[in-house]
Amino acid sequence: MITHKDHFHGSDLEKIEKLYHIKKENIISFSANVNPLGLSELLLESLKNHLEVITSYPDREYTMLRKAIGTYCHTDYENIIVGNGSTELISAVIRQKEFKTACLISPSYSEYEREITLGGGTCFYFQLVPENNFELHTEKLFSFLIEKEIKLLVLCNPNNPTSTALEGNALYAVLDFCHKNNIFVMIDETYVEFTEKYDSVTAVPYLSRFDNFIILRGISKFFASPGLRLGYGLTSNRTLIKNINDAKNPWTINSLAEYAGKVLFTDETYIRRTKELIFSERKRVCGILQTIPGLKVYEPAANFVLVEIKKENRDADILFDAAIRRSLIIRNCSSFHGLDNHFFRFCFMKPADNDLLLACMKEVMN
Ligand SMILES: Cc1ncc(COP(=O)(O)O)c(C=O)c1O
Repeated sequence: MITHKDHFHGSDLEKIEKLYHIKKENIISFSANVNPLGLSELLLESLKNHLEVITSYPDREYTMLRKAIGTYCHTDYENIIVGNGSTELISAVIRQKEFKTACLISPSYSEYEREITLGGGTCFYFQLVPENNFELHTEKLFSFLIEKEIKLLVLCNPNNPTSTALEGNALYAVLDFCHKNNIFVMIDETYVEFTEKYDSVTAVPYLSRFDNFIILRGISKFFASPGLRLGYGLTSNRTLIKNINDAKNPWTINSLAEYAGKVLFTDETYIRRTKELIFSERKRVCGILQTIPGLKVYEPAANFVLVEIKKENRDADILFDAAIRRSLIIRNCSSFHGLDNHFFRFCFMKPADNDLLLACMKEVMN
């Protein structure tokens, strides 16, 4: 068996190519959580015809881009800040507010911890547990926030890697509690457009009510454009937007990404096709997964699913190894806080590719 201690990110294809002697063009990445439809045809065509935009600086205020995002998200464009991927905004928000204490939900995406620690803050982990299907117990969270004197709560919604989502009244209750207790909330909605219950998962409707939170999103996953590096934040806290913009370098979104954003957010055909594909594959693939003995499937809200291996002498390393031999990459989740080598995550790709991975899982679990 190929043994490895690394846990690859979806962007590590060159590393994988070198280690496993597989051409990166042939790899099907079930670990990057990127829309399998690839680039929107509308964007491809219009980018080809507008490459000359790189001969000009982007608009320093990105007004047209922010207006396009405002229309897409149903909010005032003055509530919007743009960044070089949501990654730039995660770090800009944390640096701006210099939080001394932060509550991170665990397991979750790891970039928040790095930024908070770099800024001298302390992270406290609120643990989600498999016995509760990794769902968030809000009353327990509230006691934890008070006990640890938390100043920043980070919510990834839907959460990576558990694919669970906080919605409706529970989401409102968290925002309301944090507002009353002077806690700032950063909600990472990178995967929200993939959910079937978008209206109750997104925090956009609460922008007019609370100014103690920011929503972060980007085009990397849903619009399959991680290389363009375009992210955006939504908040009704105009002082925060001003302070971040004052501190941030100008033009961190290049003119190609600025142009692309204006096209992507209006591409209704692509948005509809993506939702149709992900909604139907999520249902179909999970139905098949449930029939494979020894696998526990945690019900997914996003475009990826967390699975636990419950059979003796099988683990995520064994499955990773079997998959990579077929040029398929899944995410071993043992590097996430609170998970071990029995958990793996994969995203939904096109039906034929999903079938290849399912066949591989059946073989390994047999
Ligand atoms: C939850 C989450 N947030 C943010 C990012 C980074 O997004 P971006 O490419 O917009 O910087 C990722 C990437 O994997 C992610 O999973």
